[in-house]
Amino acid sequence: MFDKIKEYLQEVNSFDTMDEQKIEEFRIKYLGKKGILNDLFARFKEVDKEDKRSYGQAVNELKQAAEQKVNELKANLLKQEDDQPQYGDLTRPGEPIAVGSRHPISIVKNQIIQIFSNIGFNVSEGAEMEDDWHNFTALNLPEHHPARDMQDTFFIQRDPKDILLRTHTSSVQVRYMENNQPPIRTISPGRVFRNEDISSRSHCIFHQVEGLYIHKNVSFADLKQTLTYFTKQLFGQSKIRLRPSYFPFTEPSAEVDIYWGLNSETDHRITKGTGWLEILGCGMVDPQVLRNCNIDPNVYSGFAFGMGIERIAMLLYQISDIRQFYENDVRFLDQFKSVF
Ligand code: PHE
Repeated sequence: MFDKIKEYLQEVNSFDTMDEQKIEEFRIKYLGKKGILNDLFARFKEVDKEDKRSYGQAVNELKQAAEQKVNELKANLLKQEDDQPQYGDLTRPGEPIAVGSRHPISIVKNQIIQIFSNIGFNVSEGAEMEDDWHNFTALNLPEHHPARDMQDTFFIQRDPKDILLRTHTSSVQVRYMENNQPPIRTISPGRVFRNEDISSRSHCIFHQVEGLYIHKNVSFADLKQTLTYFTKQLFGQSKIRLRPSYFPFTEPSAEVDIYWGLNSETDHRITKGTGWLEILGCGMVDPQVLRNCNIDPNVYSGFAFGMGIERIAMLLYQISDIRQFYENDVRFLDQFKSVF
């Protein structure tokens, strides 16, 4: 029996191949369930008592040699694969690469920024937590002003009610005016907060882009021209109308509607049968607001406008529920893969 083991050992040591199949056959022959080694172990009980020790050693030695051989040959094989260029079959379909997509809010925000930077506006940003002055008082909304109710506020600090989550990005414009003298051309995109019930049409968190232009002799005609350009760029058409409205920080103020058309049933539904859709608020900056920000209203005038990004995205992409923007459902987000 010892001679047989020696023979096996020689075979194991001299075995060499680069063929995966042959390595596997070799492994099964020696190390498989019904392989030589299991057979040898099974015969242990037949061995004479005084030989048991050396028999055990010899079989173990053989087992180790066989295992080592298999590992060695497999490693050689892998190394060889690495050394070879991996062209393989060029007609095989490629591995799919998972591609992410931008969030529709970012897509629309970037479009709006692009449109305004083309006519010289820069981008200004500010903190989401604001003080009362920058969010309200500097904008002609002193304490107890009824128009504060238009913007239900989340207060961070109750007493005094001074620190809050900004309700609009007009706060960024106040800070910009405090720190820069005209000419000013800036847009302020950002997240804003209002204590409103969540429904398909409104949310307590949403995004705005507000714009501000201050220079000498800026008139309402400039405002209208700018907005006409903007709607033409974003919606592909420039039929707009301005309806008189009220904001404490602009005088006169207006709301802007875009002509959406009445071609489909959806058009009838979303425009309530009028064909017109409101897209933003705007107006000439109130002289008192300029004064509050150390800009002389006798020298300068300006206009401001503000819009909700969600609302615009809902129109552009026909999204019927605002909550879809915040649910992170990939079935929703995946649909924006083709746009940057
Ligand atoms: N700040 C206003 C709002 O959040 C929008 C607006 C901005 C209106 C500038 C007029 C001028 O509702």
